[in-house]
Amino acid sequence: MEQIAERLGRNGYVSFSRVENDTLSIRKIGEHLGCNITRYSFLKPRSSTGRPNSLSDVYGVAEFPPHSDGAHLVSPPDYLIMKGSRNRKAPTLLWPSSKLIEALGSDAINAQFAINRGGRFFGVRFSSRTAGRFGLRFNHDTMKPKNQSATNIHSWLREPEFEPEVIDWASTALLVVNNRTVLHGRGRIEEPDTGFLRRWTLRKQ
Ligand SMILES: [Fe+2]
Repeated sequence: MEQIAERLGRNGYVSFSRVENDTLSIRKIGEHLGCNITRYSFLKPRSSTGRPNSLSDVYGVAEFPPHSDGAHLVSPPDYLIMKGSRNRKAPTLLWPSSKLIEALGSDAINAQFAINRGGRFFGVRFSSRTAGRFGLRFNHDTMKPKNQSATNIHSWLREPEFEPEVIDWASTALLVVNNRTVLHGRGRIEEPDTGFLRRWTLRKQ
């Protein structure tokens, strides 16, 4: 358990192989990180979910581009825990902030976006520092560019120029991601309707 916080701090994520550990308790990880579990979702690939705001509906079985979960919220979740089934054919892809900031340069600092929450708009930055804590947020569909840096990031993140970290669910049992320092996405689903992903979102207490 000790290595979770240390590896999260260094890389922004930590994964456990099926051989290493398949019995880590979600509740215990949450406690260890000083977080409450605020949401649980069972995700299964399919052509349409019927939910208009769902990324599954926008992208179907194609790749999900890089994003953070809850990017449209005033305060997005701090961490995500994912557990995929062994037969899930779509890898989870990770883009850590250190590489993103290096690739995006000053655009990462200057980008400003608008978020529409039921007709009321509020402004957010791609990268920010709140109470001394660095944070990133991004979603192609819910964040509309307000300046040139934001437009550059919006198009750059359609096809990032560096390779993501690839989490393959045949060998990975559990993944913990810092939702404020790592963007995540999904590879193309080769066989729709096989496999699933369990996802928990966590917030600092
Ligand atoms: Fe996501």
